[in-house]
Amino acid sequence: MKFFIDTANLQEIQEANDMGILDGVTTNPSLMAKEGITGLNNILNHYVKICEIVDGPVSAEVIATDFEGMVREGEVLYDLHPNIVVKIPMITEGIKAIRTFSQKNIPTNCTLIFSSGQALLAAKAGATYISPFLGRLDDVSSDGLALISEIRTIYDNYAFNTQILAASVRHPMHIVHCASIGADVMTGPLSAIKALAKHPLTDIGLQQFLADHAKGNS
Ligand code: E4P
Repeated sequence: MKFFIDTANLQEIQEANDMGILDGVTTNPSLMAKEGITGLNNILNHYVKICEIVDGPVSAEVIATDFEGMVREGEVLYDLHPNIVVKIPMITEGIKAIRTFSQKNIPTNCTLIFSSGQALLAAKAGATYISPFLGRLDDVSSDGLALISEIRTIYDNYAFNTQILAASVRHPMHIVHCASIGADVMTGPLSAIKALAKHPLTDIGLQQFLADHAKGNS
């Protein structure tokens, strides 16, 4: 399973990249705003900075919600850097834009997926990735992992090439469950990625090894 980090924070992207396990980045307008990145030029420059850190796909989201606007914005984003993936919301106009980009071999990430029907439609349009938001489903007492599992079955039934990018990941067990279901990619915060490394028995065991070594060498 590929690991993407879901942030626009350059330090966090650098830290995850330095761990040697980072395959890509996802951003969204809220994450860009959180970093204080506003104004078209600053936003475009920020995407380039992210692309210069990570050698992998970087999702950059369009703001327009009409077909022509999405295509226009998506082309500007894609021209920024070969790593850019154009992120498009799951709306009817978005489906049309995904089809257009797919015909031009421009990679897309269909975002805000909350049902299998939406995932099926995006795959038929030729999306490179679809982003089911598992944490946001869990937040409203729905089953985000069950959705990812159903999409996996549907895509396997018909050999769709569209990759399932499990999004809105909140904690390390989300990552483990996504891997067990067979999501192609997960995107989550640095905290969830780093938490995968933690286990109290590892810490206790290491402490013991170091103490025993110190005793033997004193
Ligand atoms: C997906 O690409 C989105 O950026 C993201 O995963 C949303 O997650 P959130 O529910 O934590 O905002």
